[in-house]
Amino acid sequence: MTTTWTESVVVTRQDPTPRIAVFELARADGAELWDYEPGAHIDVMAGADGLIRQYSLCGPAGVRKQYRLAVLNEQASRGGSRAMHALAEGDTVRISAPRNRFGLAPVRRHVLLAGGIGITPLLAMSLALDAAGGDYHLHYCARTRAEAAFATELQNNPRVSLHFDDEPAGQRLDLARDLGPPQSDTALYACGPGGFMDHVLGRAAELGWPPSALHKERFSAAAADLQDGAPASGAFTVRLASTGAEYRIGGEETILDVLLDNGVDAPYSCRQGICGECVVRVLAGEPDHRDDVLTDAERADGMFTLCSSRARSPHLEVDL
Ligand code: FES
Repeated sequence: MTTTWTESVVVTRQDPTPRIAVFELARADGAELWDYEPGAHIDVMAGADGLIRQYSLCGPAGVRKQYRLAVLNEQASRGGSRAMHALAEGDTVRISAPRNRFGLAPVRRHVLLAGGIGITPLLAMSLALDAAGGDYHLHYCARTRAEAAFATELQNNPRVSLHFDDEPAGQRLDLARDLGPPQSDTALYACGPGGFMDHVLGRAAELGWPPSALHKERFSAAAADLQDGAPASGAFTVRLASTGAEYRIGGEETILDVLLDNGVDAPYSCRQGICGECVVRVLAGEPDHRDDVLTDAERADGMFTLCSSRARSPHLEVDL
């Protein structure tokens, strides 16, 4: 799959916190941008070395003249967020068409759980639900009020609860109180850094919420699943169903890297097992799933990420 790109210009830049910049981007040629559903993200190519990073669109969706996104300047990043923070109004960056693997489910009620910069896709969802008269509640957690980029925008919304680590214990997120037992007509959406995600998803599971009700988007793969951090396993062979070509995947290599090195036009974006762009179907062999994007049902249906997952069997055939 080929990524569709367009040149965009930074129309506004605001810095609501010392580490978070909020950008509004418009097409450089003045035309409208692509429509999108809340929860969608775009790729942004920024910096001299063309680093590509994914950023969720903050909404409101349906405004095709501009995309709003918020970027946390992460010291431990591989450079993408620093390149974004170097942007000023008037600068141009290439952006992709939106993709969405984190859309709203067709249920009556939605509980949105945001940790820090994870507010971005959930903000778009809350705006869409406000506009449609949907039933939801948004819990927005941050270390401090000063680090919550959208606290001012959201603080008077009765459907929003703000939770700060450094404020009285009674206002902190308590899932037994704030979420309660599972409801068949309610879906949960969680987005945030790894520790936050592990906590809220683990606690929701303890409270009896079934995996099918939990919708999640991580910013980086869970430690145990991350391709760079996961223990490499043995070599195996991947066969492409379309050509019959076979490729040896070494213990330290990813399938995606080997395919790209050999000129195969394989789809990809994040390369961390979190965006779903490289998903293909496994036709034969036993997959060793190491992504953080596919649901159990999708895995059972044969879906597989080329960038992060591996094989438990000596051979794997994929529908590519
Ligand atoms: S490229 Fe994003 S999941 Fe593989």
